[in-house]
Amino acid sequence: MPAPEQQPVPFSAALRTASSEEHRAAEQSSFMSRLLGGHLGVDAYADLTGQLWYVYRALESRAEELAGHRVAGPFVDRALLRTAALERDLAHLRGPGWRDGLTPLPATAAYAARVEELAERWPAGYLAHHYTRYLGDLSGGQIIRGIAERTWGFARKGDGVRFYVFEEIDNPAAFKREYRARLDAAGLALDEVERRRVVEECKRAFVLNGAVFRDLDARYPLSA
Ligand code: HEM
Repeated sequence: MPAPEQQPVPFSAALRTASSEEHRAAEQSSFMSRLLGGHLGVDAYADLTGQLWYVYRALESRAEELAGHRVAGPFVDRALLRTAALERDLAHLRGPGWRDGLTPLPATAAYAARVEELAERWPAGYLAHHYTRYLGDLSGGQIIRGIAERTWGFARKGDGVRFYVFEEIDNPAAFKREYRARLDAAGLALDEVERRRVVEECKRAFVLNGAVFRDLDARYPLSA
């Protein structure tokens, strides 16, 4: 039996540890701090929701093809899909013509392009983005939902915050445990070089999110 130090770190733990600094940076970003501190209006929240729509469209539009992939396939799960929930939120936030005038910020376009590229060419790398978004939505996303409901008066788990509500996941903690077990199994199916590349891609996923926050932050200058 190998000594404990020779056993590989479970992939889920490797991803979490490697991205912990980037996670802190995202949490403490100016845009998130201002938004969740109640210093921005509902227009900024609607803006964030619109940008997320581009990201999730990129994450979800190739789900069917990815379902057959050896590494990414086990993660394709309709219970996670967010595009329809985002569209309901956007109809509430921007009105029925919510697509009119909606454009991706440069950072959002770059983020979505990266996800699309990976979904097509490197599904193991796509997995890094899947983890970064969906496990985050099931975690900190729940905190964001509560604050959004209180700050802008959305109905509990209703229109405006449906993005954060996973109707088909009764027990998020159990789901996350099971998701991490899937990550660990995926890690065992990858060689060391590939594992490291996926971990690097995960950090990049956080950086891409941070860039969207920066672009959004610049749209809402501090009032004098
Ligand atoms: C103010 C914003 C945020 C707050 C308050 C927050 C809070 C949290 C909390 C409390 C957890 C731990 C949950 C647990 O251990 O079960 C968590 C996990 C996580 N968050 Fe965030 N988060 C925020 C932003 C983000 C962003 C922007 C991303 C990425 C786009 C993100 C991605 C993740 C991921 C991937 C995890 C799972 C870590 C793991 O257990 O492997 N979070 N977040």
